[in-house]
Amino acid sequence: MPLPVIDLPIAGIEPESTEDPLDLLDEIDRLKVEKDATILAHYYVDGDIQDCADFTGDSLKLARDATKVTTSTIVFAGVHFMGESAKILNPQKRVLMPDLLAGCSLADSCPPDKLAAFQHKLRAEGHDIATVAYINTSAAVKSLCDWIVTSGNAREIIDRVPKDKEILFVPDQHLGRYLEEVTGRKMILWPGSCMVHEVFSLQDLIRAKKNNPESVVIAHPECPQNILAVADVIGGTEKMRRHVMATTTPTTFLVATEANMIHPLRAAAPQHTYIPVPGIMTSTGETCACNRCPHMARNTLAKVRNCLRDGKPEIVWQPFFEKARDVLVKSLLE
Ligand code: 13P
Repeated sequence: MPLPVIDLPIAGIEPESTEDPLDLLDEIDRLKVEKDATILAHYYVDGDIQDCADFTGDSLKLARDATKVTTSTIVFAGVHFMGESAKILNPQKRVLMPDLLAGCSLADSCPPDKLAAFQHKLRAEGHDIATVAYINTSAAVKSLCDWIVTSGNAREIIDRVPKDKEILFVPDQHLGRYLEEVTGRKMILWPGSCMVHEVFSLQDLIRAKKNNPESVVIAHPECPQNILAVADVIGGTEKMRRHVMATTTPTTFLVATEANMIHPLRAAAPQHTYIPVPGIMTSTGETCACNRCPHMARNTLAKVRNCLRDGKPEIVWQPFFEKARDVLVKSLLE
């Protein structure tokens, strides 16, 4: 019997829109007013979406910006956990996303049932744990945790965890290891990683440094240890932006994070040269473009327009959001 053909969308493979981006931008501006909506966009989405957003930022800034929105609708151009966090922090607002399938490899690596089982096992073995989760997790996971961190506030939050607790850090092993180093707190690390930062090649980075001897390497703490070891500046996306703005002398920056980050860096400090650190490079010099997040790439101008126009897809309130809300408010807003 022939197998049924299922028309499943493939992450990152978007049919090219035939619509003129300028027409789409006009339509988006008109719909924002007509539908009483505010657009939030993460630094990793395409530059044209960032340019039509009312707020852009890293995960921490956008979560906080979402609480300042005065319109009845938020459109979140980012990935699912970001839209979910915006809804959790603003239960009365309608939160739309251009594509609900925009997920996160880190969030996927830590399903709530596996986390609950692991916490149970640790407690049964006598560990007195506090669970600290990177914001790149589902709301169901957040509801099982004591604290939420982002790349922007992780050190402060770790300092707030009582010293007599053992920290279980989920799901990013690389960020967790980096936090162990900078805070001096030993942690039990969940073995997750970001599919974009995981593939940076040390060889390529060293070669790029050799070709640009005066360059400065800025790397996201989601990168593995070998990449961070050769970085001059380590920080989340907002810290990167602030760093290049504070550097007045024109500089060449090798940027080890999602390639769309070049857009806000260039807008904030156009005096510099920015070179995205490639992912895996072949012997003939081609890169695999794996420094693009296929989930972020699901956000397109046409889908921003569609969700504004159609009022969907929407993040719908779930019962476990209530518990996740307590943890998010305590960690990000207090
Ligand atoms: P920040 O923007 O908070 O640095 O994090 C990047 C990220 O992981 C987005 O998914």
